[in-house]
Amino acid sequence: MSKIIKKIGVMTSGGDSPGMNAAIRSVVRTCAFHNIECVGIYRGYEGIMEGDFKTMDARSVKGIINKGGTVLKSARSKGFRTPEGRKIAHEQLVKAGIDGLIVIGGDGTFNGGLVFNKEFDFPVIGIPSTIDNDIFGTTHTIGFDSALNTVVECIDKIRDTASSHNRLFFIEVMGRDAGHIALNAGVGAGAEEILIPEENLGLHRLLESLHRSKRSGKSSSIVVVAEGDKIGKNVFELKDYVEANMDEYDVRVSVLGHMQRGGSPSCFDRVLASRMGVKAVETLLEGKTNYMVGLLNEQMELTPLEQAVKGKSEIDRELLRVSEIMTT
Ligand code: F6P
Repeated sequence: MSKIIKKIGVMTSGGDSPGMNAAIRSVVRTCAFHNIECVGIYRGYEGIMEGDFKTMDARSVKGIINKGGTVLKSARSKGFRTPEGRKIAHEQLVKAGIDGLIVIGGDGTFNGGLVFNKEFDFPVIGIPSTIDNDIFGTTHTIGFDSALNTVVECIDKIRDTASSHNRLFFIEVMGRDAGHIALNAGVGAGAEEILIPEENLGLHRLLESLHRSKRSGKSSSIVVVAEGDKIGKNVFELKDYVEANMDEYDVRVSVLGHMQRGGSPSCFDRVLASRMGVKAVETLLEGKTNYMVGLLNEQMELTPLEQAVKGKSEIDRELLRVSEIMTT
């Protein structure tokens, strides 16, 4: 028998991403719509252990749909990784009368939710939110689209100066384990080469490609590098390597870093977050647990959390081919 849910806790955890606030707003307003109490939990699992809760009504989330970051704050909790920490967290939730949890974040967040559910049979639903887009069971995570727009805007600006000085730029973008940001932003910004963890181009082929670009008449070049790329050298070492092996280019490096995680969410992310919040609350109210909501074939779908955590979000092979054709 599934439990009847009367009070839902919502939290954000792990690396923040633009659109998290829109997701919180959606969860809070969907709860209000169904006359369910909603409690905001501060700083993710850390806040559960500390009982850092605040009741949220529909009006409490006004004016946040367009804000980056997360009003509930985020953290990567060490304490929650221990059985003692989770026991304390469970006691806090029971004390507050919270009987279902919506966790907004990436796979680390979902892993925590899964373990918690196994130990205490506590209903959990996940909303995928990370700029990396590396979650199985959804074509888009909240924040990915906004981050892409930020990265493309930055690359466009760097291209201006690259072409004025006939320079080659290595631009590092986020994506610890996945090349989705690099591939999509690279195609969108017309990069000459894109280095991602899923495809090891190799140093030799990189040089060949840069020589080819030069011969074809290009005076400047942009190479987008995912931070998790497996070429064996970081962006600064790549610069040294290319300078040592090619004297045609003056090389510079730009690491975009955390600016990719900030800023006002795109319309796409706001809409996605709004849809996911509704689906997450209504899934809990239907008595379901251990699912992640996701966007598949333009529809809101459910994927078992376990699968979402174990599955791999594959790189778009068709886009990879497009990128290869575009760089000829
Ligand atoms: O949220 C994922 C991510 O953006 C990764 O791409 C990146 O490696 C990491 O976060 C950086 O995390 P932190 O904020 O802990 O430096």
